[in-house]
Amino acid sequence: MLDEERLKQDLQAFAAIRPLFVNLGWGLLNELDCTDLIKKGASLKELMEKREIKNKKMLETILDILVGNGVLKHEKNKYSFVSIPQPNKKEDIDFLKKNYNRSMEWIAICFKDAKEVITSGKPKDKAGFDDEKGLELWDAIMCESPYSLRKKAILIFTKELKDGNSVLDFGCGGGIGLEQILLETSKNIFLDGMDTSGNYLERAKKRMQHLYTNTQSEIIKRNIKKIQFTLFDPKKPLPKNKKYDVIFLSIVLNHIKEEKHAKLFKELKSMLKRNGRLVIYQLINQSKYNRVPIWVMHVVPSHQEYPFRETYLRNIKKNFRNVDCFFDGTITVSYD
Ligand SMILES: C[S@@+](CC[C@H](N)C(=O)[O-])C[C@H]1O[C@@H](n2cnc3c(N)ncnc32)[C@H](O)[C@@H]1O
Repeated sequence: MLDEERLKQDLQAFAAIRPLFVNLGWGLLNELDCTDLIKKGASLKELMEKREIKNKKMLETILDILVGNGVLKHEKNKYSFVSIPQPNKKEDIDFLKKNYNRSMEWIAICFKDAKEVITSGKPKDKAGFDDEKGLELWDAIMCESPYSLRKKAILIFTKELKDGNSVLDFGCGGGIGLEQILLETSKNIFLDGMDTSGNYLERAKKRMQHLYTNTQSEIIKRNIKKIQFTLFDPKKPLPKNKKYDVIFLSIVLNHIKEEKHAKLFKELKSMLKRNGRLVIYQLINQSKYNRVPIWVMHVVPSHQEYPFRETYLRNIKKNFRNVDCFFDGTITVSYD
């Protein structure tokens, strides 16, 4: 059963995080001495030149998020000032501290990294969740806590699984999705995890061992024993020795350049059985100005920005039929 209370909390957390990032964006522009120029009205190019900012994409994302949140406007190629962002409401901060107490620590790391990256123009070698500390914080705030959206996506297919079905968690990372799938089905299934990172796969294997040792359920134990993990090279075609009833992607597309999505969907389709389902949980940019506020993730070397809703859906619809969207496309289900 989906924990509706938990889902409500997660949505509340997303809502509370948005102004926090808007404030950070404005704070960052202040620290970079951009706000005086913006108050007079300045183009992206002028800001870059006058303030020696090297990372155009990141600056533009910050500015566009501030436009989307009413802090700036963008007219005739110039960004200009509208109003100072409102400070986060105390109850939002308290909510985040109480329910997601690692999030403040994580946002502070993002802010520090973002400042370095935007001025140097170079992604950090290790940043965000590319190091151990980041991974731990990511698990704590983005995976363990707002897990309900992922879980909601998982429940869409687990309730219909039949004995003998096969499921692939593509980009399974540390295995949180695998664990949730195992906990949500009473069927005898073949579950596989694929990832481009050996470190992540090792974490996933440990997670499975831990679940195996701690569960009383024979079916979960049996399903864990059958799991196959595949490490693959994203530059090569995907291994296609197996076909699946369900392929699940959770927060993976933002690691893959948008121009490669169409090819990826085509390959994933060829790995699905007839009538198989592709289920995606992905934070997406609703428009240029209404972007995922977690923009500072640009500092994570492996991040390729979040997909834009329109292109993302177009790419899916090109390959799949019956595309259903939930939460504005944050959860998408499509059929072969
Ligand atoms: C944010 S993590 C999400 C992990 C997991 N699916 C979850 O929901 O917690 C993104 C994962 O995508 C993987 N990844 C990166 N590039 C990929 C690619 N080209 N194909 C498949 N997975 C990729 C990363 O190694 C990482 O494990």
